[in-house]
Amino acid sequence: MKKYVILISGRGSNMEALLAADLPGRCVGVISNRPEASGLTHASVRGIDTAVVDHREFPSREAFDTALAAEIESRGPNLVLLAGFMRILTAGFVRRFEGRMLNIHPSLLPSFAGLTTHAAAIRSGVRIHGATVHFVSADLDAGPIVAQAAVPVLDGDTEEALAARVLAQEHTIYPAAARWFLQDRLRLVDGRVEVEVRQSGEPFLRVPAP
Ligand code: GRF
Repeated sequence: MKKYVILISGRGSNMEALLAADLPGRCVGVISNRPEASGLTHASVRGIDTAVVDHREFPSREAFDTALAAEIESRGPNLVLLAGFMRILTAGFVRRFEGRMLNIHPSLLPSFAGLTTHAAAIRSGVRIHGATVHFVSADLDAGPIVAQAAVPVLDGDTEEALAARVLAQEHTIYPAAARWFLQDRLRLVDGRVEVEVRQSGEPFLRVPAP
């Protein structure tokens, strides 16, 4: 059975969605860079081994990434899932996990990379916003796209309302993408995403009714 590790920094609702999805693999650890991340408690309650690699205890980004990579590798995962993991990773770290590390980002990339994506979407006047699952590359939020979900931006939307609408979609497309990978139906080949979804008809692009 394939193994996966989840990296979090906070509440961990995407982690919860992944753990609840009954994925065809074993979660061999939830690792946080913040000891206070509330997601750690939820993982422990589910009987999953947790670890903290606190970035504040390391003198440099490289030193932190080296310790984090060791913590991940000691568990021997096939797949690393970043789920609200709020650290910029070094190129060396990303290379080490290339083709086996996914991220969920709360926007329709390449629009609105970085933080505060929902406020930026409202400010910009776009009528469609959403979420993206992508392979992690050395460029922030710019790796090869695996799946996207779109939601409408409604008149009078607040950042919170829009975030909640997007988050509900994150919780569907991230487990779907993780499942494809663990079933050997998703891979990165020469920097391009290959997905076999024909057998069950699951969409790469999810556009729920408004
Ligand atoms: C999610 O919106 C995720 O896309 C972003 O940060 C948020 C984390 O939420 N990177 P959670 O910790 O998964 O609840």
